[in-house]
Amino acid sequence: MYSEKVMDHFQNPRNVGEIEDASGVGTVGNAKCGDIMRIYLDIDGNGIIQDCKFKTFGCGAAVATSSMATELVKGKSIEEAMKVTNKAVMEALDGLPPVKVHCSLLAEEAIHAALWDYAKKHGIEIEGLKPPKSDIHEDEEEGEEY
Ligand code: FES
Repeated sequence: MYSEKVMDHFQNPRNVGEIEDASGVGTVGNAKCGDIMRIYLDIDGNGIIQDCKFKTFGCGAAVATSSMATELVKGKSIEEAMKVTNKAVMEALDGLPPVKVHCSLLAEEAIHAALWDYAKKHGIEIEGLKPPKSDIHEDEEEGEEY
């Protein structure tokens, strides 16, 4: 049911923890299951994400997708990090069962919420970034297969 990559990131999640004095912190909840995700970003003066950590009250798929998402955004510019969508994360993990797609949204939305926090603190605007939702769900993804 789960790919080897999903199992690997679930059993050995990368970047679990907190960042003290993070440049941006984002917390989101998943309306579908009630699970919670928090992402911490450390962004340097050039707008490069030096570090990224996560904490979650989520299922195994949420752990695996967040682990992969944090790996994907590390070392990237803010612009590049905006392209790390839940679809990109799922592809990097060789797919997720359709019933678990909503879990992968937690990481994407929490990264966006952390970027929003960073942008607010620095008085900047990030192209394409929308205000964080408190409760996320998978309107667009419903019914799609991965
Ligand atoms: Fe809630 Fe997966 S079931 S994040």
